[in-house]
Amino acid sequence: MTKQARLLVLTQILLLAGAAQIARRFSEPGENLPMTDNSFDNIVSTFTLCSIANVEQALKEVYRVLKPGGGFHFLEYGLSREPKVQVWQNRLTPLQKIIGDGCHFNRNIRQLVETQFQNVELEEFYLENEPKISGYLYKGVGYKAI
Ligand SMILES: C[S@@+](CC[C@H](N)C(=O)[O-])C[C@H]1O[C@@H](n2cnc3c(N)ncnc32)[C@H](O)[C@@H]1O
Repeated sequence: MTKQARLLVLTQILLLAGAAQIARRFSEPGENLPMTDNSFDNIVSTFTLCSIANVEQALKEVYRVLKPGGGFHFLEYGLSREPKVQVWQNRLTPLQKIIGDGCHFNRNIRQLVETQFQNVELEEFYLENEPKISGYLYKGVGYKAI
């Protein structure tokens, strides 16, 4: 192995070690996080806000543990803007909650995030090759006030 290759391997190992320390993965109830106030620079959620029973409380908790100026990054599915799709999302959510472990099709993620965070930047779009009922995505970031 050349010196350059050894250096590259070492760099990768160090990067991985650093990432493991920085990104702490946890599986605590979102409504009651055990972390202290103002402890994270950023928090990421993917396809979780649909399932948390008390989602408003969970977002309050995310806000509490974020540092001032910190970002809440999310990719979630939820309520479409199309009234015809909304009708079916509302009809099918009770069934989806049973078969999908508490998952809702009809949560308005924009409203939920904007209620809790500042300067929300958000994209809404349908996922290709996915039924509209379960394929309306919200991707974005909201910040904790400084
Ligand atoms: C659709 S799955 C998404 C899994 C994963 N986040 C992903 O992106 O593939 C919904 C997730 O929400 C989690 N969940 C449900 N209730 C929760 C709660 N009260 N607090 C935290 N997570 C919860 C479930 O454990 C499940 O992993």
